[in-house]
Amino acid sequence: ASTAATSVSIAGSISSQLHGGYGHSLTRSWQSERQLTKSMLVYPLFISDNENDATSIPSLPDQKRWGLKTLVPYLETLVRKGLRSVILFGVPLKPGTKDALGTCADDPKGPVIQAIRLIRAKFPELYIVADVCLCEYTSHGHCGILREDGGLNNQLSVDRISDVALAYAEAGAHCVAPSDMNDGRIRAIKLKLIEAGVAHKVMLMSYAAKFSGCLYGPFRDAAGSVPQFGDRKCYQLPPGGRGLARRAIRRDIEEGADVIMVSRLPIDSTLSHIHKVKPASAYLDIISDAKEIGRDLPIAAYQVSGEFAMIHAAANAGVFDLKAMAFESLEGILRAGATIIVTYWVPDMLNWLER
Ligand code: PBG
Ligand code: ZN
Repeated sequence: ASTAATSVSIAGSISSQLHGGYGHSLTRSWQSERQLTKSMLVYPLFISDNENDATSIPSLPDQKRWGLKTLVPYLETLVRKGLRSVILFGVPLKPGTKDALGTCADDPKGPVIQAIRLIRAKFPELYIVADVCLCEYTSHGHCGILREDGGLNNQLSVDRISDVALAYAEAGAHCVAPSDMNDGRIRAIKLKLIEAGVAHKVMLMSYAAKFSGCLYGPFRDAAGSVPQFGDRKCYQLPPGGRGLARRAIRRDIEEGADVIMVSRLPIDSTLSHIHKVKPASAYLDIISDAKEIGRDLPIAAYQVSGEFAMIHAAANAGVFDLKAMAFESLEGILRAGATIIVTYWVPDMLNWLER
């Protein structure tokens, strides 16, 4: 009787025994479907029109605005450690560089086009993504051209955005990534790339699911792109809009996007608001939706400025260890389905990751 009782208790407990499968650091890593690697990381860079720039951005820890002269030595150290890709944002600082139409966005002497040419020449192996938007170049700070009532003029904006995308592609960007959220810009850009005969060598990455909210504050400090009035709620998605995000993802795939990007996590201004923000996992369901809808495409996730700043602030306040949290946040994004991660952690990760 005692033997029978023992075998029943063993049989009854087999399925509860999981620890043996992840007790070793190697077996713990085997539990992940995919490993975090340097090659999946894209590093955001702010390039200003002051060639000696190396200005820190108070709300965005460890990040600087670079100029054409300071950029090269900075990139040299990162490339040596395994940097594979950057995404460029232009920051025009000189007086008179902003107007209602964002004219300077594709100025051949402007910071982005100059930086693309420079990086192609100095670092031929580096993959260059160019963010395409007007908000850094418009006097009103919105992501397109406005109507008299202050709303976006979709047609004019799409015409302009697609011209800017083509200019970046022709300057040598490997990938153009429109972040403006105007309707129909993916199709318009794809058509112009085809017409110009460069569609075969330029990737089109859509910020398809970009949510409006609080977490872009530090970026706007860095890029000088705070809207002068109103907000971006008429074009960026409402945080609760899961169905809307799925429709935007489906539409952008149909319009010819090669990669779908989810820009997760929203704060409407700066760090003083971060304590009101929900946990950083706020948009992982959308990444998972993008992976399901776009199962045949690479999926990119942008861990935005406010989320990065929030992790730094909490680590400084003693809430958790910075490095451990950086890994945890990226592993969550990876697990949700991203194959490409745009993140401000790249310089640290190049030190922390083995490959
Ligand atoms: C420009 C753009 C923004 C981001 C990517 N492209 C800012 C915005 O829409 O206000 C967000 C990136 C970040 O916060 O790190 N349209
Ligand atoms: Zn914008």
